[in-house]
Amino acid sequence: MRSPTSRLLTLQIDSLNSEGMGVARRGRDVFFVAGALPGEVVEATLGERRRKVCYAKVKRVIEPSPHRVEPACAHFQRCGGCQLQHLDYPQQVDAKQQRVQREFSRAGVDVEFWQPPLVAAPWHYRRKARLGVRFSKEKQEVYLGFRESASSHISSIDFCPVMVEHPLLNWQQWREFLQQWPRRAELTQIEALQADNALVLTLRLLKPLAPDSEQQLIAFVNNQAEALPVQLWLKYHKHAPPEPLRTDYPELVHQVDGHDLQLQPDDFVQVNRAVNLAMVEQAMDWLAPEPDEQIADLFAGHGNFSMALARRRANVVAVEVQANMVSSLQEQARRQGLAVTAQQADLSSAQALQALPALDAVLLDPPRAGAAAVVEHLIDNPVGRILYVACDAATLSRDLGSLVAGGYRVTRAGIMDMFPQTHHVETMVLLTRVGK
Ligand SMILES: C[S@@+](CC[C@H](N)C(=O)[O-])C[C@H]1O[C@@H](n2cnc3c(N)ncnc32)[C@H](O)[C@@H]1O
Repeated sequence: MRSPTSRLLTLQIDSLNSEGMGVARRGRDVFFVAGALPGEVVEATLGERRRKVCYAKVKRVIEPSPHRVEPACAHFQRCGGCQLQHLDYPQQVDAKQQRVQREFSRAGVDVEFWQPPLVAAPWHYRRKARLGVRFSKEKQEVYLGFRESASSHISSIDFCPVMVEHPLLNWQQWREFLQQWPRRAELTQIEALQADNALVLTLRLLKPLAPDSEQQLIAFVNNQAEALPVQLWLKYHKHAPPEPLRTDYPELVHQVDGHDLQLQPDDFVQVNRAVNLAMVEQAMDWLAPEPDEQIADLFAGHGNFSMALARRRANVVAVEVQANMVSSLQEQARRQGLAVTAQQADLSSAQALQALPALDAVLLDPPRAGAAAVVEHLIDNPVGRILYVACDAATLSRDLGSLVAGGYRVTRAGIMDMFPQTHHVETMVLLTRVGK
């Protein structure tokens, strides 16, 4: 059924892949079709072939899904940020639930109890985002936006409907300001972080700012934000910490577990405030820390879970690779009189894991790569309970498969929609030692 151009193909979509693309099969060929939904018949433009998969893009929807909706964002499909805006929200959550269950069963992981998904607002949830900036000398034009999907091009955006709402997050106005700002060619990124007590804008620059350019920047920000609390920070090197433009900015905080948790502009922070609050509450409920238990919070970041565990009177060993987060977590725990020992270590190293004390329970929240070395350690050095929080379903399933083979069972699991409109899914799993 190839159309005359031969680059177009009519395809029947039967599922979504892990990146939110429609999947179609024809004989032995598999197609991943951007913009297509399960149950649809689409006309698709064929793109490149990678191994056994042909990539394609919807040109025309012939038979739409009843769950297809109009994407809210003008930049949908060009911007690489969201993949599922054309699917109604309940179905997005359902698709993520199905996907995690599929990954688990492929890895031979049985779950005794599935918790209903944790969800919050599907729009305006993202409190941290980094936008790229590029000035084209040739066109004398500033580009400001996210990376385009499947390329490193910056696609200019005016407004992002998944980001939190704030008058300073109007990128069209930023672009207009930058267009006439003398330092525009030296600005490569703007990172926005909405803490509970201020909006932080970190500008990555190639050279230090001269006083007049700094004043222009401050005037623009004051003009847009009026009386709202805003902090401007500057960053000159990828690995150097950002520097505040003023020394009297108040400490940044966000609330977790009913208390303020201190935050630095370049800390890792869970991007969805509402889902994070619910996630930490659910984690405490499932792990149920007892006073004086020895609990490790691995991949601890700036203490999102550690402080909540310590407040329930557990003795917490918090391990994190980024030294700045380790020291601020240690300092906060000291100030609040909480039993947290924060350690800087690389958790992919067996040596670092050997240094852990005997533990009653472990909470781990690794990056996308998962936690293969930690899993191996927990099989050789069993603990009573493990609470695993994961942002990648594939590596989570791999790790759970090993833990189940190594003597644990999965007593509870649930997805959390930390990133609505995108294909990303966060999952929480509670494991207990078989026989306990
Ligand atoms: C998904 S974040 C979770 C942070 C924290 N649990 C939270 O909820 O905010 C993963 C954390 O693991 C840290 N990390 C990444 N690789 C690591 C490694 N090899 N060893 C230790 N920590 C690592 C990152 O710096 C990041 O803070």
